[in-house]
Amino acid sequence: MKIFIVGSGGREHAICCSLRQTSKRPMELFCAPGNAGIAQIAHCSPIPVSDTAALATFAHENKIDLTMIGPEAPLADGIVDVFEQRGLKIVGPNRNAARLESSKAFAKDFMRRHAIPTASHHVASSIEEAARILESGEFGGEHDPVVIKADGLAAGKGVFVACDRLQASEALDELKRGVVAAEAASKIIVEETLEGPEVSVLLFSVGKDFRLMPAARDHKRVGEGDTGPNTGGMGSITDSSVLDEATRVRIVCEVVEPTLRGCAAEGIPFRGILFVGLMLTHDGPRVLEYNVRFGDPETQAILVRLQTDLAEIFEAISETRLGSMGINWSSESSACVVLAAKGYPAKPETGAIIEGLDRARLHEHVSIFHAATTRGANGEWLTAGGRVLGVTAIGETLDVALSRCYAAASEIHWPGMHYRRDIGRTRGHDLGAVS
Ligand code: AMP
Ligand code: GLY
Repeated sequence: MKIFIVGSGGREHAICCSLRQTSKRPMELFCAPGNAGIAQIAHCSPIPVSDTAALATFAHENKIDLTMIGPEAPLADGIVDVFEQRGLKIVGPNRNAARLESSKAFAKDFMRRHAIPTASHHVASSIEEAARILESGEFGGEHDPVVIKADGLAAGKGVFVACDRLQASEALDELKRGVVAAEAASKIIVEETLEGPEVSVLLFSVGKDFRLMPAARDHKRVGEGDTGPNTGGMGSITDSSVLDEATRVRIVCEVVEPTLRGCAAEGIPFRGILFVGLMLTHDGPRVLEYNVRFGDPETQAILVRLQTDLAEIFEAISETRLGSMGINWSSESSACVVLAAKGYPAKPETGAIIEGLDRARLHEHVSIFHAATTRGANGEWLTAGGRVLGVTAIGETLDVALSRCYAAASEIHWPGMHYRRDIGRTRGHDLGAVS
């Protein structure tokens, strides 16, 4: 079987490793563009994820049986529609269903139409209108917190959790200065600030049929104690403490089922991986956002627990038949600690020599997923981006998983490398400065 993974991060490396580990069938893996870690187990081709036509031609020419899309941008661009028009099997939602992630205004309206609990909000069609909404007091006074979000995809740079109106105005100024693409900021969402621990609930879905993955928690801020700017994610965990059973049932009834029913009713049945980011508030779970793909670094911590053949799951999704398929997960806990480059997230330095990878790889129950690495002229490992490696481990308790991660991480070194020592120890959320 030939499987093609589109993307180049730790998430895609974890997907490739999980396919190899969970599947017994002979399998050839392809990846575009991939990275040096992925190249150890898959054929990598330097096709950019934005070149939908070239990716489809690659799949056709290489007789790929199944394609899996990692990042959101190609899904928002309609890669699934293009592959399907060419009769190629693919895992992911089509362009219309991908709007749940690619337009926050669409997602908010969708939640309103289907009575799915989320923060109260107002969609403004210009920065000036957003400023007027702030001044109107609809979301509190000058000293109250408020959240400002750009409508479109912004690689995590379009959400501002402001402590007060001054910070909110600064966020609007940043949007005016073009911190995210003009198209992404053509609408602005002004939103009530919620408080509580966050949880990432991911599911495999075909239409109204779905299977939940173990709930995960991401740590978005760069600094320990949830301080500093937001990042793509500095670490993640799965553990029974992330989500209790009663809340899980509530999320299924109040969020997951109405979302999938709503998609089906609106003619955009959801087929692929749905990722619901939630805040567990005093008043119950509230949706912060939808993503229409695997999370990064949640996937690294989730997939190391998968026991069912991932290729079979992907095949079933692409053929719209989850049916009675059981999906098994190990009962352990897991953690992923991201090792980041100097200057990440603002201005990561690349090209540093990574030492100690071979020693770290010898640690039992540990997987090291490459997010951004390349090979130097003499075969040495070099950093090639902001988030470089995701050191991931399972353990009978979260503590065991974490100590395995940190023991392996301590073997690895490059100048300016940094990582959080408190993954799994904080709620992963804090009200703070504009992010
Ligand atoms: P989003 O991309 O919408 O998930 O937002 C990114 C992060 O911003 C979330 O993971 C939260 O930490 C924070 N955030 C988003 N919306 C809110 C909200 N309404 N209240 C508090 N924090 C929020
Ligand atoms: N870890 C959050 C995301 O993948 O969007």
